[in-house]
Amino acid sequence: MLNWRDTKYYQDLRMNIHAMAPSKAKRIINIGVIGCGCIAENHVFSLSLIENNARKLWDNLDQKIKPRLHALADIDNEALDGFAQHFPVKKLYRGPRCGMELIEDPEIHAVFVLVPTVDHLDYVLAAARAGKHVFCEKPLAFTPTDVMKMIEARDKYGVIIQAGLVFRSAPQISFLRHLLQQVGETWGAPTNIIFRDSQEKPYKGQEEVHNSTWRGFKEKAHAGILFEHTIHDIDGLISIFGKVHDVFARINYHAGREGIEDSVAAIISFKEGPNLSVNSMWNDIDFSERRMEIFFENACVMVTVDERASKAVDIKYKYLNEPERKPDDEEMFEFFKKKMGMENLSQEIPGPYYYEDVRFIDAIVHGTPAKVTLEHGLYVQQVIEACYTSNRRNAIVDVDTYIHESSI
Ligand SMILES: NC(=O)c1ccc[n+]([C@@H]2O[C@H](COP(=O)([O-])OP(=O)(O)OC[C@H]3O[C@@H](n4cnc5c(N)ncnc54)[C@H](O)[C@@H]3O)[C@@H](O)[C@H]2O)c1
Repeated sequence: MLNWRDTKYYQDLRMNIHAMAPSKAKRIINIGVIGCGCIAENHVFSLSLIENNARKLWDNLDQKIKPRLHALADIDNEALDGFAQHFPVKKLYRGPRCGMELIEDPEIHAVFVLVPTVDHLDYVLAAARAGKHVFCEKPLAFTPTDVMKMIEARDKYGVIIQAGLVFRSAPQISFLRHLLQQVGETWGAPTNIIFRDSQEKPYKGQEEVHNSTWRGFKEKAHAGILFEHTIHDIDGLISIFGKVHDVFARINYHAGREGIEDSVAAIISFKEGPNLSVNSMWNDIDFSERRMEIFFENACVMVTVDERASKAVDIKYKYLNEPERKPDDEEMFEFFKKKMGMENLSQEIPGPYYYEDVRFIDAIVHGTPAKVTLEHGLYVQQVIEACYTSNRRNAIVDVDTYIHESSI
């Protein structure tokens, strides 16, 4: 019997069909990264994965999307060359004006600001003015007033700016929010959250973790553990439990570094929800772990985060006398993917830094506002500033009143 697939007629027809298929227009998104340090490792690696996976991630569009790591900038040549060796790019910017020169480069469409906090504001404002989209690491700026300047610039120049609040792109946080909505009355009212953040001092210049020292200086970092590290956890809890009613905080400076608190005990009361007790400390113990226990009338959830462990985030929960349960990683990821509207995301590329970078590029692709906004960053910084104010005044601070008074 004739196998029609083998005939010349069929082969030619196939060739013609392929030749006639319209090739998609290409949209290149050139990305520049300013700051080649600790957090840049996560972002630059994620960006190169995004570059390789772009076809799959945005396969349903008329255009072929090509995000490209195009340029790197760092004032430190060693840091810059170290990165360029592993992640070859078209352009490298060096010297004291390196970040501004990268921003001024007309070939660049989007900028990642990954430098010590002191320089975030100038870079974000310059990038917005130049019409470049921006991803800026947390904390966004030294003060809420400076974050408001970023918001004004974003709105004036019509660019997308995403805040680097990475917990908002963690499948575990979005799953927890979903779980708590589902269990609603069965679990009863949320009553108490006990949170502990213990981190080895990140300004000792340790090779494998934080090899820089800027976090130990007020002029570079503005403040200590609450502002620099626990900001993620407070923001994650705000994303679950909503706005804060009031705060009361006790803050200490055991290492004697001016303005860099290394011990925080605070009570943060949500408007509609539980009281959160925060215990954060920078110490010299080789132990960096966060632990959160969320209690309800009938259940509790335990979350442990250890970035050095093979499984960075461990979640378990218990309802009344039922056996303890652990949510399945795949189930959490599937839920997260749907929630993000990114069905083509793969779980084999792990980690919230990858997901937050995909979301940023996706916002650029679709011309939509960032999902993790400057307003999210502003609010969590206002809550943290209210904690510092509470410590200074030795009083409970009503957060809405604090925000109102500080904006006059
Ligand atoms: N989201 C997170 O989980 C997370 C984790 C770590 C750090 N961060 C934030 O990322 C930012 C960077 O922190 P890091 O740990 O990567 O710091 P780092 O010290 O490891 O790296 C910063 C890099 O920026 C360079 N640099 C400094 N000033 C510069 C300037 N003006 N222009 C160009 N380059 C400059 C330094 O030479 C260095 O290579 C901080 O705001 C920090 O709070 C976020």
